[in-house]
Amino acid sequence: MNTSTTLSAGLGSAAGHLTLDGHDLVELAAEHGSPLFVFSERRLAANAASFREAARAGHGRARIFFASKACSNLHVLKVIRAQGLDIEINSGGELWKALQAGFAPRQIVFNGVAKSVAEIREAVTQGIQAINVDSACELARIAEVATGLDRKATVSLRLVPGIGGGATAGIQTGSAASKFGMTEDELRTAIGIARDNPRAIDVAGLHIHIGSQVLDIVDFAQGVAFAADAARRLAGAMGSQLRHVNLGGGYPIDYTHRQQGSNQVAQSDLSAFAAPEAAPSMLGEVAAQAGRQFAAEMEIFFEPGRSMVGDCGLLLSRVESQRYRGTTPWLYLDAGYNLLLDSTATRWYYHMVNASRMAEPADTAFRVVGPLCDSADCFFDVEGEYLWKAVKARLGDVAGADDALLDDLKRRIVRLPETRDLPAASRPGDLVALLDTGAYSLEEMFQYCGRQRAKAIMIGIDDSIVTLRERDRPEDLLDVAERRLLDAV
Ligand SMILES: Cc1ncc(COP(=O)(O)O)c(C=O)c1O
Repeated sequence: MNTSTTLSAGLGSAAGHLTLDGHDLVELAAEHGSPLFVFSERRLAANAASFREAARAGHGRARIFFASKACSNLHVLKVIRAQGLDIEINSGGELWKALQAGFAPRQIVFNGVAKSVAEIREAVTQGIQAINVDSACELARIAEVATGLDRKATVSLRLVPGIGGGATAGIQTGSAASKFGMTEDELRTAIGIARDNPRAIDVAGLHIHIGSQVLDIVDFAQGVAFAADAARRLAGAMGSQLRHVNLGGGYPIDYTHRQQGSNQVAQSDLSAFAAPEAAPSMLGEVAAQAGRQFAAEMEIFFEPGRSMVGDCGLLLSRVESQRYRGTTPWLYLDAGYNLLLDSTATRWYYHMVNASRMAEPADTAFRVVGPLCDSADCFFDVEGEYLWKAVKARLGDVAGADDALLDDLKRRIVRLPETRDLPAASRPGDLVALLDTGAYSLEEMFQYCGRQRAKAIMIGIDDSIVTLRERDRPEDLLDVAERRLLDAV
């Protein structure tokens, strides 16, 4: 067994291979090719049911709107809908997909900072549950569109709660330093617009979302307190009670799979990627707090994304090459940031195991990189390491720079471990599994360096294999206009 890893539910090992829901993943990759995303329907349905039940137990009028930006594959959406959940969208494209998946308009809430007139027109025409309005400017646009359609738009006003939360700066969305939501000044303007347009605008709720991978429930509790105060003030200003409060998503999952004593822990502080508590139970507690702060008739909305699908999927990637740099072994995978954008964009930690060698101890530190043509395509923090060298060189000149200070700075600057623990014999032909890659990855794949987007399959509850999406064909590397060029020759 890979010694540095605790496997989560559904994962196991048999005959030295990693298994998911009892299926040998090495065999699945032999059949379906690599790189390959593999999802578990069992896990997905169980996650959705846990959220539904935890929310209901916490608050009789709580509703879960799955944040479809985390994974809007139609098969996945249908599993979530079958569990009785609703859906959050972020664009006209996601609205279209939600409708294709069978969600009713009243099951849909619409976020986004720059909604187009066409998107607003479609949302108002469909009569969705709420447009979460990000700015006064957007509210004026909605009023104009709704007036033109002679319809009333149901809206929720997204506010800036001024609360930190989220593992990295790029996913902290709750302060005025981010691009999201209305400050007090903007809210005053928005209230004026709503009051001036009573036939076009129905202010049904307010919305906050403080960030992603928020580890501390205290941050969510502060969000509830903020929302309760803001709801009272907003109702006073509008002269009518709100009907719902939307507390957003952001619930964490445990990416670390840590086990005491592994050198992975010694190398790097991965606390931002751990989760102190299971997301559904955290959400249930927040729902219960909301129950104590709001009137009983108030509906409480949540928008979890990552925590719904993250641990439902993994990415199998073949080792294509190896070499030594000095004494350190390097492994070259066939998957890079073309398939896992967050590995470089937000320097996100995805735990690795050698799916081909589960019976061997993960006792050797490898540098692990992807196949793309730039140095940033790696599973360590190349930018952080570079910056750290420069900072350390400067600090070396500063008298009194002690070890504790240096250590603290290094942890802040270099986010990812330099190496990954894998079995010593890991070599080309082996399959590395990157765990918990079910959220945001299928949505963010692209074809840089002429690389085909990966195939994704799901192991069904009935053990059948469902293809979620096919691997791109070579001709998919050409756009329609490029194909016309070929046809013309
Ligand atoms: C408004 C809003 N709601 C929900 C989510 C989902 O967040 P998470 O995937 O962390 O649950 C996001 C993520 O960006 C968001 O912006």
